[in-house]
Amino acid sequence: MAAQTLTLSFPEPDVALLTFDTPDKSANVLSTSVLEELAEHLDKLEKRNDLAGMIVISGKPGQFIAGADLREFVASLDITAEKTAKMCRRGQSLFARLSRSPFVTVSAIDGICVGGGAELAAWCDRRILTDNTKTAYGFPEVRLGLFPGWGGTVRAPRIAGLGNAVEMITGGESITAKEAFAMGWASDLVPAENLLAAAISLVRAEQKSGEYLKDRQRWSGPIDISPTELGFLGATASAVIQQQTKGHYPAPEAALETMLGGAGLDDEAACQMEAEGMAKLFGSPINAALLNIFFLTDRNKKDTGIGREDVTPAEITSVAVIGAGIMGSGIAAANVKRDLPVTLNDSRADALAKGVQAILDEVSYNKATKGKDIDRTLQYAPLVNATTLDAEMASCDLIIEAIIENEDVKKQVYSRLEQQLGDNTILASNTSTIPITKLAAELQHPDRFCGIHFFNPVRKMKLVEVIRGAQTSDLTVATAVAYAKRLGKSPIVVNDGPGFLVNRLLLPYMNEALHLVGEGVLISEVEKAAKKFGMPMGPITLYDVVGLDTAVYAGQVLADAWPDRIVASPILPALVEAGRIGQKTGRGFFSYQNKRNRAQLDPELEPIIAPHIKASGQKISTEQITHRLFFPMLLEATRVLEENIVRDPRDVDLGLIFGIGFPPFKGGLLFWADQLGADKIVEMLKPLESLGPRAKPTNMLIEMAKSGGRFYVA
Ligand code: NAI
Repeated sequence: MAAQTLTLSFPEPDVALLTFDTPDKSANVLSTSVLEELAEHLDKLEKRNDLAGMIVISGKPGQFIAGADLREFVASLDITAEKTAKMCRRGQSLFARLSRSPFVTVSAIDGICVGGGAELAAWCDRRILTDNTKTAYGFPEVRLGLFPGWGGTVRAPRIAGLGNAVEMITGGESITAKEAFAMGWASDLVPAENLLAAAISLVRAEQKSGEYLKDRQRWSGPIDISPTELGFLGATASAVIQQQTKGHYPAPEAALETMLGGAGLDDEAACQMEAEGMAKLFGSPINAALLNIFFLTDRNKKDTGIGREDVTPAEITSVAVIGAGIMGSGIAAANVKRDLPVTLNDSRADALAKGVQAILDEVSYNKATKGKDIDRTLQYAPLVNATTLDAEMASCDLIIEAIIENEDVKKQVYSRLEQQLGDNTILASNTSTIPITKLAAELQHPDRFCGIHFFNPVRKMKLVEVIRGAQTSDLTVATAVAYAKRLGKSPIVVNDGPGFLVNRLLLPYMNEALHLVGEGVLISEVEKAAKKFGMPMGPITLYDVVGLDTAVYAGQVLADAWPDRIVASPILPALVEAGRIGQKTGRGFFSYQNKRNRAQLDPELEPIIAPHIKASGQKISTEQITHRLFFPMLLEATRVLEENIVRDPRDVDLGLIFGIGFPPFKGGLLFWADQLGADKIVEMLKPLESLGPRAKPTNMLIEMAKSGGRFYVA
């Protein structure tokens, strides 16, 4: 028999206390068996007529309930809509008992209270929250392509107001304890150590005043709101949702409809409506894809990077960054924000001064006031030490080199530095193209060298590639992985090779966009297809963002490695020669000669690219463009897997989602490919045969097509 999650006790003879504590788990989750336990306890308690109240609390400090058990969700993704609706109705009826019981019910919440946990709490008569900064209340279901299905869309508008509920549920962001209190979710905010005592007092106060009975009455009926107000709220919320989801994510709009529709109904009818709405979302391809993202991220959090747990990462207490340019200052700022002291080094004093300014500007930014915050400057400035001297870096635990992309110059810096370093210092390079094994060739301690490849802009991009050179040790990799996580990043470990992982996969896609343009497909059509697929921007705009000079260089690295399939387009060099290297100079494929740096069509582009366009106005469907763009990327991913560049296909998907904004609602490149099926993909590649090796199915894909294999195996 499974260990129990709920424990019943009586802190006072007439007050029941249900304590949630999922055995062997860091978080409490609501699985089917836990819901059964809850039902059994309620069966017994409801029969008693001597109880003043029941309090629900967590046995895990800082963790109330993290939501439903998502592994159970995944296991039942293919159930019928009817069954899903029934499942929702069962949960709703169970939780609703908390609002109909013969005693006052109170949720005493310390820490995370989200999803199904927030719904359970919402069905209680009252909630009391701790003032702990970790305490958070929210409904993140839209992030999984769902909305609350155990009565959350019914209770939230009734307790916190329809406007607040719409914002919380359609946005999916959790709110702080203070915000929850202000919205009427909580009766009180108390220190964690007083939580239980405060909850007991609340039970007594409610019993005396009978206020909770009035709220039971009120919250079970329709919401008091005029049709005009309802219409206005619907229109404004829908506009915000459309802007945020760009039509790719149906759940927020569906949640809005359910809440607006349920507003005029009693809670029973509104629950029925919620269950029917949930049934339409549950098990959809987008739901499955977003669940996959959840598991990818969860797996990444637990991944040590080396496939074993017996190596303890070295502690990093101080970091040096060499090169105070775009990347170096971004990396330094990421450290400072996590309270890690940084020594910033550059050979040029002016570059150093500029770098320090960039760090301080970044760390001083206050999100709440959207401006510079002098208190933050004072707090963080002492963590930055700027120097042109090597000696000041020698005592750091980790040194990240981010100087110009030149193998010889980098090697010179290493050989000069290595002699001064301690026995455990790790040296890392942020290089985007130079093989790590090559850079380590003359090092005395290549085992303590690796790539730590951040993405630009560092402040925004969650991905970090930890590159393992031929001689990099497990300890170095595990330490780099733990360090990147400490900075709030999602690191993936990649074996050394041209373009590492993300650039290797990105380039075939970007290059194909140029081939399409060269064949006469309009730039606007290529951009449209990529955005329709869900990319945050089209590949041509991406060239302008990355910089055409950088793209030519990176492209050359891959073309040198695989000349048969990376065929450079003459379009890029033509633009570079014309001095159009992208956003940084105000002109690339587009022009950015306006105040807000917005991309504008530029009539001067045409004469530059015209000599390289074979036929003009080529007609090709959006679907065909999509195949042309994403299949070369997919084929490259199969080669990456064949060469064991990553340890698991999931790293490919996580890398592309966090590294280039591959659409999360597709679940990742390989997840998407699994949905299509290898056999279908091989079929769809047939019309592209004339493109040669870059569109030819790889052995891996052919084998998978024959055997019905998938990239994701349990
Ligand atoms: P950057 O040109 O903005 O900055 C390089 C800095 O290094 C300059 O301040 C320069 O004065 C300094 N420097 C040059 N030689 C030096 C030396 N011997 N000792 C100390 N300082 C020296 O370059 P950026 O863009 O920051 O790139 C740096 C590294 O990061 C390169 O390896 C690049 O491939 C890589 N990278 C760049 C990305 C990007 O988007 N810019 C993205 C990911 C990696």
